Amino acid sequence: MGHDKLNVWYEDCLVGSVYENEVQKLIFEYSPEWLTSVRKFSLSHSMPLNTYTPEEKEYALASHNFFTNLLPEGHSKARIEKELKVSGDFQLLKAIGGECAGALSISEKKPSSCYEYEEIDNDDLDELLNTRSLYFKGDKKGRKQRFSLAGAQDKTVVYYQGDKILLPVDDAPSTHILKYKSHQFRNLPALETIATWTAKNLDIPVVDVQYMEHDNNDFILVERYDRVFSDHKIKRLHQEDFSQALSLFGDNKYEQYSGKGFKDCIQLVQTVSDNVRQDMKKLIQWHVFNFFIGNSDAHMKNLSFIYHDNSQRSLAPFYDLVPVQAYQGDIDHSLSMYFGGAAHPYEINPESLEIISKECKARPAYIVTIAEQIKNNIMDAFIKAVDEFEDNHSVCFCFDRVERVIKKNIEHYNKSL
Ligand SMILES: Nc1ncnc2c1ncn2[C@@H]1O[C@H](COP(=O)(O)OP(=O)(O)O)[C@@H](O)[C@H]1O
Ligand SMILES: [Mg+2]
Repeated sequence: MGHDKLNVWYEDCLVGSVYENEVQKLIFEYSPEWLTSVRKFSLSHSMPLNTYTPEEKEYALASHNFFTNLLPEGHSKARIEKELKVSGDFQLLKAIGGECAGALSISEKKPSSCYEYEEIDNDDLDELLNTRSLYFKGDKKGRKQRFSLAGAQDKTVVYYQGDKILLPVDDAPSTHILKYKSHQFRNLPALETIATWTAKNLDIPVVDVQYMEHDNNDFILVERYDRVFSDHKIKRLHQEDFSQALSLFGDNKYEQYSGKGFKDCIQLVQTVSDNVRQDMKKLIQWHVFNFFIGNSDAHMKNLSFIYHDNSQRSLAPFYDLVPVQAYQGDIDHSLSMYFGGAAHPYEINPESLEIISKECKARPAYIVTIAEQIKNNIMDAFIKAVDEFEDNHSVCFCFDRVERVIKKNIEHYNKSL
């Protein structure tokens, strides 16, 4: 019996197809049309064009990891499976793979280039925010969105223009990610906003995050860096996250499980990026910033490469910056990616920065300069972000906890010198 295949599209060009083999692994094959196209690019650093046969073990694993990494995770995945009454990675990809991270659209039929968006009114927005709906109830013709984004937090994708939120119909591309408030993590939208703005104030390249309130709900709108306007139309740019580029599966995004960490990220940048010097510096800034702000959840899927013109590759702006250590109680504060060998901020020691410099093959003084610059300026950057937030929104007491976390991590750092 033949395999049920899904087509993978880049604009109107068939990139290849994906099927599920006997052991539920997702196997991808590039199409001859793609391999001879002038527009061709490899989907991932781990899936080079032309140099494999789909049966090769390493390649099969990379393609499985690439496609499963496009899907939602954890609680969010379970919710979608229940809501759409589908189960398993292949069925999920079939149901929601129309609009993904990056330029690919997964659907049986060729995607339409006539994009449609549905206006929503205040009541619809209320309903969306109250239910934290992943897929809106569908428009009058019963058409639904088909988007898939990684991560465990509930989110949806929207087209945001002026101050209007529109919903993409079917597989139409979105411009923003709408991240809902979380019942598990109080004040998550405000905390993600403040961490992102703090990084921005330190001149670290980050996504544009807008904090929004609507009646009793708050949420953030994150501008997509993988969507650009070209000839008055939205164009999709390709991206891949570091789990995809390193062919890591699921929880192997955490160093604790895969043994892959900052050193591997640096090596990846050195191999993949078309702007190595600049991207290395950004990556070091990201690592140091996460240490001070208490973002313990800085794992491989929270880093991506963006493909400009679908060929030139560089680090995407940083996203999903959350001061996780501001949460108390039953929350794991250990670091997803070790900081100079330290799996927890209090484990940082005099060797840590030296280890980082070895991981980067850089002079220790270079790393120390970046670390000191962030340490010396982060509190002012944070206060500026809080001021900006409080000029437009009500006071959020959770920011006091972030301030304490930053101070504590500065103390840990100073003790290690
Ligand atoms: N601004 C953005 N532009 C394009 N893709 C993004 C952007 N932010 C996040 N993504 C993609 O969406 C995925 C989920 O977003 P993320 O903010 O990490 O959600 P979560 O908090 O659930 O982990 C990321 O892994 C990345 O692939
Ligand atoms: Mg994430």
